[in-house]
Amino acid sequence: MARTALVTGGSRGIGAAISIALHDAGYSVAATYAGNDEAAAAFTKDTGIKTYKWNVADYDECAAGIAKVEAEIGPVDVLVNNAGITRDAPFHKMTPQQWHEVIDTNLTGVFNMTHPIWPGMRERKFGRIIIISSINGQKGQFAQVNYAASKAGDLGIVKSLAQEGARAGITANAICPGYIATDMVMAVPEKVRESIIAQIPAGRLGEPEEIARCVVFLASDDSGFINGSTISANGAQFFV
Ligand code: CAA
Repeated sequence: MARTALVTGGSRGIGAAISIALHDAGYSVAATYAGNDEAAAAFTKDTGIKTYKWNVADYDECAAGIAKVEAEIGPVDVLVNNAGITRDAPFHKMTPQQWHEVIDTNLTGVFNMTHPIWPGMRERKFGRIIIISSINGQKGQFAQVNYAASKAGDLGIVKSLAQEGARAGITANAICPGYIATDMVMAVPEKVRESIIAQIPAGRLGEPEEIARCVVFLASDDSGFINGSTISANGAQFFV
């Protein structure tokens, strides 16, 4: 029977590419989204991939949503924590609200999604947790104290979960994309974006599919001994 994969923020941007790649690789895929009903409906129409709406920042919504997915599709074997937001501002202008919105979604959201799924993975002795972190969690970024903190925190989650899940057949790994051609990066002012691209030795933004292919590998049986790792996919912009 096909394995079930759940992708948060899976109807747009990098998440959509991940959902499609996993679907093409034979998984039964569920994609969550937070707000854009139109994009989610179009995504389901185009791909046949079911979408579910809930806020990853809310623990109870996650628990209820996951229960629904598991009843309709099957126990989650692969969880891709991809949902993420930015609220960029130089630190002296950053508001507590901007801090909390980003931490609640990008960091606490990973706890909220993984915690209800974890016991089932332990029982079934198989699981794949994949977190989409960011180059900016590795190097920091001007105007992203909140985002960089959340993405660096995601790497701490992966390294700890890897140790806890290893004997239960569960792996936890992170991918740190560099700047990828998505709405999030396109929202950066054009001049700033041009200066960012100038810092990428590859001379271009990455494509969402380049991240999706890493996810498919990490989800597979072939990656079983890769646990607690961080894969950087950034066109040589930054090395850890
Ligand atoms: N490094 C150093 N200085 C910088 C800078 C940088 N990267 N970016 C801006 N500055 C400077 C500006 O030159 C300006 O300086 P002056 O006042 O001396 O001219 C100052 O900082 C900006 O001050 P403002 O008061 O004008 O800033 P603002 O309140 O208008 O904020 C901004 C503008 C939010 C910082 C905007 O420039 C921006 O969005 N920058 C991009 C931040 C970024 O890279 N975000 C990544 C988004 S993509 C992503 O997050 C995906 C991923 O995982 C990779």
